[in-house]
Amino acid sequence: MQNFKKSIFFKFSMEFDYKNAIKQMGYEPVCKMGKNQCSFAVYRARKNDKSYAIKFPKDFDEWDRDSLWSEYSVLRKVGNLEGIASAKEFVVSPYLALVKEYISGKPMRFFIEDKGLISRQKIYGEENRKFFRETLKGIHDAGFARLELVPENIVLSKGRPIFIDLGSAINARDICSETFENYKEKDIWAMEEYF
Ligand SMILES: Nc1ncnc2c1ncn2[C@@H]1O[C@H](COP(=O)(O)OP(=O)(O)O)[C@@H](O)[C@H]1O
Ligand SMILES: [Mg+2]
Repeated sequence: MQNFKKSIFFKFSMEFDYKNAIKQMGYEPVCKMGKNQCSFAVYRARKNDKSYAIKFPKDFDEWDRDSLWSEYSVLRKVGNLEGIASAKEFVVSPYLALVKEYISGKPMRFFIEDKGLISRQKIYGEENRKFFRETLKGIHDAGFARLELVPENIVLSKGRPIFIDLGSAINARDICSETFENYKEKDIWAMEEYF
């Protein structure tokens, strides 16, 4: 962490060549993912016939840097859960990036109907909802909550909902137990509401 904190300090410009950066990291760029207005640039890439999702901070400021590192730290603790896109590596040189397993399928937002309402029954049956609940419980039991459970952060892969973004998760150690319980409750509400 100390080395990471001391690592390269420069600002990613608007024209930053992500594809070239991906090549320099030893991966083959495939396509851009996610929306332009997000604070991270996410690309799909390949290496040795496997697909990866590579997440770069757009601004090289403290917040983006810490947030990417925090996501990696959470994934190292819960990445063994089946319902999560696991972390492969955290790269600091020549560019700061988090490499995750790529989850094939469609982000949940594709299943949202016009008025922003998901018709859950059409999306998955009780078995997959149970799978989702177990993933959520696994994350909470590992001591993390405040997951941003929005349809953009869930990919439906072979019918199973997989969490692909744990960037907003907070560690129980960093907050008081009452606040942690509140976050857990909010996660469960979000799950019941959307999924
Ligand atoms: N591991 C992954 N597998 C498949 N798609 C992914 C993966 N990671 C990210 N994506 C796609 O990229 C989008 C943005 O990634 P995300 O990690 O959620 O970044 P942000 O912090 O900008 O929300 C997601 O909504 C999803 O469509
Ligand atoms: Mg996201």
